[in-house]
Amino acid sequence: MNVMLRQKLDPDRLPRHVAIIMDGNGRWAQRQGYSRIRGHQEGAESVRTVVRLCREIGVGYLTLYAFSEENWQRPPLEVQALMQLLGRYLQQEIAEMVENQIAFQAIGDLTKLPARIQRQLVETTAATAGGRALTLTLALSYGGRSEIVQAARLLAEKVRQGQLAPEAIDRELFAQHLYTHDLPDPDLLIRTSGEYRISNFLLWQLAYTELYFTDTLWPDFREEEFLEAILDYQRRDRRFGLTQDQIEAQL
Ligand code: FPP
Repeated sequence: MNVMLRQKLDPDRLPRHVAIIMDGNGRWAQRQGYSRIRGHQEGAESVRTVVRLCREIGVGYLTLYAFSEENWQRPPLEVQALMQLLGRYLQQEIAEMVENQIAFQAIGDLTKLPARIQRQLVETTAATAGGRALTLTLALSYGGRSEIVQAARLLAEKVRQGQLAPEAIDRELFAQHLYTHDLPDPDLLIRTSGEYRISNFLLWQLAYTELYFTDTLWPDFREEEFLEAILDYQRRDRRFGLTQDQIEAQL
């Protein structure tokens, strides 16, 4: 446990919701001379560390980009290994999630996932519902543009059925039709591995999010790196388009 860094945290200025693009498993493995799959296994350990830390320091929501729509195009053996890893993760963590008051959920086009994984997701979500300490959301088979398109379709269908007037569609109603309807927008987005892209993650939700990029590869992103990211966030001024004077007047 990194006591020094933890002591520097301001408990009153924690991000409520942290979202992470976990990138660099493949490069980590390549550098060590391992298979890409070994990189994902080590990445799963970083997931465990970050989930535990969020709960311990009091971050209420953690959303992890675990598998994108585009990831289906990876070699079938790698896709299979990722699904296996996910299945094992859910199986191994469910009891601890229940014990630690962690509510689990998955977002994305879950119908594309193997039936066994879909069943595990339903089971884990049901078993952990009511967890109050942390909401852990895994984005699986997820794409931000597709999420927005499906929200538009849901709304269009309501209009067609005569249940909704087009003028009644505003930002709030739109957000209620996204997969993330029960989550606050992320305060902090972390992307590892030195890539400076959003890669179709939470496009709508990231409008005012603070972005944090680090060269560290995801399997090396552990307690110290996560705490550094939170400390960096705590040094920022968030103005949401207002002036500093207006922000101070609100305090
Ligand atoms: C990106 O690294 C990572 C992924 C596509 C998958 C993320 C999966 C995990 C962290 C492990 C399993 C998850 C859970 C929840 C148990 P990359 O393969 O794109 O790395 P590269 O860019 O270096 O090739």
